[in-house]
Amino acid sequence: MSPGDETWLREPQDTEWDPSEAERIADSLTRFNTDDVVALALGWTFATPWRQVFGKFPQFSLASGAGSGKTSTALLMANLGGNMIEETASAQQTKFVVTRQMASTTTLPITLDEFKPNEMQDWTLRRLQDLLRLNYDASLAGRGRADQSVVNYQLTAPVILLGEGTRDQTAIVDRIVRPKRSRSRLEESQDYQEAYGHLRASNLGMFALAYQRWALSQTADLESIQIPELGGSLRAAHNHRVVKFGWLMLEKFCREVVGVPLPEIDIDRALVASMENLGYLETRDGKIRPKSTRSDVDILMEAIHDAIVNGLLHPGVHWVRRPQKGDVIIRIGSVLGKLQSTGVRLMDQADYRRIIREGDCPYAEWSDKKQADFTRQDPTHGTMRTKGPLVIDPVKLAEETDIPVALWEGELAMVSEAERLESSQ
Ligand SMILES: Nc1ncnc2c1ncn2[C@@H]1O[C@H](COP(=O)(O)OP(=O)(O)OP(=O)(O)O)[C@@H](O)[C@H]1O
Ligand SMILES: [Mg+2]
Repeated sequence: MSPGDETWLREPQDTEWDPSEAERIADSLTRFNTDDVVALALGWTFATPWRQVFGKFPQFSLASGAGSGKTSTALLMANLGGNMIEETASAQQTKFVVTRQMASTTTLPITLDEFKPNEMQDWTLRRLQDLLRLNYDASLAGRGRADQSVVNYQLTAPVILLGEGTRDQTAIVDRIVRPKRSRSRLEESQDYQEAYGHLRASNLGMFALAYQRWALSQTADLESIQIPELGGSLRAAHNHRVVKFGWLMLEKFCREVVGVPLPEIDIDRALVASMENLGYLETRDGKIRPKSTRSDVDILMEAIHDAIVNGLLHPGVHWVRRPQKGDVIIRIGSVLGKLQSTGVRLMDQADYRRIIREGDCPYAEWSDKKQADFTRQDPTHGTMRTKGPLVIDPVKLAEETDIPVALWEGELAMVSEAERLESSQ
């Protein structure tokens, strides 16, 4: 199959750097929609050159109503990311086509339009959600062949997901960034239309290519990016950090290379809007706070899950699964200490003890007696028995949250973020 057959990717033509064209593009870049939409859309788009470096990369979801500009905004984003397609691709293709599309690039944004969970068959939807989950981690999807061999596809493409209402948000909500639907309709805003028309008529491929080349010389330090501390999962924090990183990079590029500084847009406000839109936040007593549909212990367990997968917490040190009983004992004190660096908002140990003792959490027990073999931090002392107050039933936990039992059995690939970064450089 030649690259030309893949209708979802198109290379830029006529890419010689044109400073005055670049200035004109920078001038319209932030005016095609509300500040919140623009900041998130551009932040995501201009983070895509680092997709492989970050390992995990959110999908960008546009989920506003019919005729609200989803398809047009996605095309604009794809073009600004260096993919010069003129039409979006449908999410309702065969699994193999979607797989190939997701495996066809590591940096160019691709589109999946017409993502309509309400109108999709259960199994079609589940299949697509599986691919999106794998795509978030840039994981492999296998496809069997007639001769029994399996071809693996690494699903690395940055994906723009376009659709209307979603049933069952929980399956994807942790892996997407989604601007709030803008109330002002596009037709009513002359300014949005003008900026949009101007951008579509400009040489965006030239701009995109210059940005991508410049990006190669920039170092990516995601951990240093500060985002509003608003709870949500570790994944949500990562996703929004990625977007802010892209936005800061675009600002820098416009300032240093194009010579036209972007107007000041409050990127943090846009991130809060996305988190609110995804249901992580709610307004209570006039303040925006983390939403409490998941219990505080659920949130703690999700933070622990992410920290284990990212190599921050270790079996034998922070938790132990007792083979006979099948339960998991967690040294909550040292775990909470470790989790502090991740920016997830957590409570004090005493608060968790109170909640669990009150019996509201079906998978957790608080015990001052249960002992497990923990490895002392100092290896010369070998193994010693220590108490861990938080006792988890992994099967019940898996029923209540989507934390798999396999997490505690060491069956998940526990590639630490550090290793991943090292190997991708
Ligand atoms: N700033 C803008 N952003 C996006 N679209 C714009 C803008 N200004 C004008 N438009 C125009 O508004 C129309 C938006 O329609 P579009 O097909 O993108 O919406 P949609 O949400 O994908 O609709 P549908 O739900 O039918 O798929 C297009 O004709 C587009 O050219
Ligand atoms: Mg459309």
